[in-house]
Amino acid sequence: MIPENVQITNDLSKALDKFFLDQQYSKIAVLVDENTETHCLSILSDLLPDHWLIKIISGEENKNLTTCEQIWDALTKAEFDRKSLLINLGGGVIGDMGGFCAATFKRGMDFINIPTTLLSQVDASVGGKLGIDFNGLKNHIGVFQDPKLVIVASQFLNTLSQRELRSGFAEVLKHALIADKKYWKVLTANDFESQDWQQHINHSIGVKSGIVKNDPFEQGQRKLLNFGHTIGHAVETVHLGLERERLLHGEAIAIGMICEGFISTKKAGLDTNELLEMVQYLKLTYGLTKIGKDKFERILVLCQQDKKNLANVINCTLLKRIGEGIVNMPISTGEVLDAIFYYNQLSDK
Ligand SMILES: NC(=O)c1ccc[n+]([C@@H]2O[C@H](COP(=O)([O-])OP(=O)(O)OC[C@H]3O[C@@H](n4cnc5c(N)ncnc54)[C@H](O)[C@@H]3O)[C@@H](O)[C@H]2O)c1
Ligand SMILES: [Zn+2]
Repeated sequence: MIPENVQITNDLSKALDKFFLDQQYSKIAVLVDENTETHCLSILSDLLPDHWLIKIISGEENKNLTTCEQIWDALTKAEFDRKSLLINLGGGVIGDMGGFCAATFKRGMDFINIPTTLLSQVDASVGGKLGIDFNGLKNHIGVFQDPKLVIVASQFLNTLSQRELRSGFAEVLKHALIADKKYWKVLTANDFESQDWQQHINHSIGVKSGIVKNDPFEQGQRKLLNFGHTIGHAVETVHLGLERERLLHGEAIAIGMICEGFISTKKAGLDTNELLEMVQYLKLTYGLTKIGKDKFERILVLCQQDKKNLANVINCTLLKRIGEGIVNMPISTGEVLDAIFYYNQLSDK
């Protein structure tokens, strides 16, 4: 089941023509970074009426208030109003931050997201989460709001690096792990190099939207989507800003899925053979870089600060088995540490 505002198509012209048929906008701007300007803009710009271009510098380290100010400033200088439209052309950083800027500019103007990375196509394309990082905390400031339209066009993936593609694949794997064992088998029957991205985009968006539809504001089942993310986010955060050790989101989530898979065997009944199956595929796909001892303490602190926690208990999504997750499982910092030890010793084998 694909949400009404999401169109999965490589025919951008048709999708946009249909959209503009019943919409009148005073002004239109396209938000890009230097990479989507180079690789993606030419596919889009001829299909649009006259428009402004707003360009920001790529990267998670720029998903912050300073960049928002630049975007709001550009919109203000070009005299955009509530009847204007912002088109976010890029990965999850552009989609989350451009959407947040649009949703808050003069209390809200329309925006379209055109995700151009696998990660943003299979994950950020659905669910209406918008926001930015703040004081080193990921997605700390934000709102829920759906874009007027999301166009998911797999043609954009042609220029994406293998590393970015692999990062997005982690969310595809996650969607199978929490909801669809049969699809896990489909995915793991092939290695990363021979995957059918078009098929996976459809599957992932279907899984995510099925979950989000019943719990848009993450009161319960939507937390399933956080599998791998409690520890994964913490691991991602402690590597932010480290040039050589930098981890992409999906790479950190792959580590988080192994750690939370390990905790699942202790607390949620996940069979150890299924954990080994997961570990084997994730190890093959991502390799396993050890987490340095110097980072343990901050990871634990960050897990305790996770947005999903209640009353200082780390609230984690675990797996009962491959294809079935369980939400709201309290875990201790000791269990997080054990899981990191488990993960670290895997690279010795
Ligand atoms: N809103 C949500 O529900 C949601 C879900 C998952 C992730 N996110 C957020 O998404 C962000 C990560 O997204 P991401 O992985 O797309 O990262 P990203 O936006 O930083 O993009 C990764 C890199 O790829 C480049 N790029 C983008 N499209 C390209 C293309 N077609 N060809 C060549 N290069 C291209 C970008 O310029 C950037 O350098 C995180 O901030 C995360 O919090 C949001
Ligand atoms: Zn994620």
